[in-house]
Amino acid sequence: MTSGKTFDYSNLFAKGLPSAIASGDMPQPKYNFILGHTNAETIPVEGLIEATAAAMRKDGPGLSINLHNGGLLGYLPLREFLVHKLSNYRGVDVTADEILITSGSQTAAMLINTALLEPGDTVVAENWSYVGMLGDLRMRGVNVVGVPVDEDGMRLDALADTLSELEDEGVRPKYIYTIPTVQNPTGAIMPIERRQEMLQLSEEYGVPILEDDCYADLVYEGESVNAIRSMDDSDRVIHMGSFSKNLAPGMRLGYVVASWQILGQLLPLKGDIGTSNFGQMVTAEFFNNHYEEHVEILRTALRRKRDTMTAAISEHFGPMVKPNHPRGGIYLWVTFPEDVDTRKALAAAREMGIGYNPGSDWAVYPADDERNGNNCIRFCYALPTEEEIWEGIELLARVFQRELGFPKER
Ligand SMILES: Cc1ncc(COP(=O)(O)O)c(C=O)c1O
Repeated sequence: MTSGKTFDYSNLFAKGLPSAIASGDMPQPKYNFILGHTNAETIPVEGLIEATAAAMRKDGPGLSINLHNGGLLGYLPLREFLVHKLSNYRGVDVTADEILITSGSQTAAMLINTALLEPGDTVVAENWSYVGMLGDLRMRGVNVVGVPVDEDGMRLDALADTLSELEDEGVRPKYIYTIPTVQNPTGAIMPIERRQEMLQLSEEYGVPILEDDCYADLVYEGESVNAIRSMDDSDRVIHMGSFSKNLAPGMRLGYVVASWQILGQLLPLKGDIGTSNFGQMVTAEFFNNHYEEHVEILRTALRRKRDTMTAAISEHFGPMVKPNHPRGGIYLWVTFPEDVDTRKALAAAREMGIGYNPGSDWAVYPADDERNGNNCIRFCYALPTEEEIWEGIELLARVFQRELGFPKER
């Protein structure tokens, strides 16, 4: 028997950890416009049931061996699917040995960061960027330098200036982090010329590119653009992707495309001793048979939801609020008048069952007057039904009226 007094770990924790989370329970708001969920209605439940049965019949006994059929890099049929998909839809020609499957692409990013970064290092990124990456970089004591974006993504004149200024200061960034295809949160799709220019700058300054391509399958309007990695013949682009957006975040599958020089260094850091083979088997079976058909269904549904959300915002918030017009993905980036601080209505909205992410969550410079994103919101429109979008936005407009005096009563 011990004393029954709760053991105190507070002095044992490593230094520099992120703040502890209050509870492991993550209640979801009724009107759920947060994070990167996908569309519940287009999760291919029946297809996944069939794929699970087929995968288990084919290869189920292989689960008796961790790392069956593919070793640490991941289940070979899934990597072979990626070889086909990357070649046909992203212009990237690779072999299965240049692909590492990870537990979501967030894990891919963390492995890359562990391999490349030390406190005090510098990374260049779009001025508005993925909160999970920004959080990981900040936790590692990495200096993130933001580059302005426009409707075509990262501005390359500004990137050239940034790299030149950093060089003058004797700083060589470890990499340029970019989400060129359906940028998170701004939705921009970078044209091919900018991608080529970015590669040239990468070469000129000796700084590799980390290309995050997780939304690339969700372009539902106009043409998509090949990955930056497709134009790279000198292994300066590390390419990441995910099955969270084109299939299901709950699958927890992502990947890195890189040469062995990189992958060989990531593998010993992969602390999970392999990504779940079960999920990989089911995903491989499903996507090796239904990829094209599934992403088409997904794109159609997402496009409708983008239009619904845009219409609901316009109806309930009026013309002073400006949603962007993304050609793909799951987010709407919405700019409010400058004096509307969207953070101030967050708690009241949450009480009414509405969840949204204020723009400041995605800001590289949240403390900066001009670049803090306080008058913006990123809404994820993928998960709620169209009815919930209408109801949730109407309710949110009322919360804003009450809390912020905007929009004015009409
Ligand atoms: C740009 C970007 N990269 C990576 C991720 C991580 O996704 P996952 O770990 O689910 O693959 C996300 C998730 O929203 C994202 O938006």
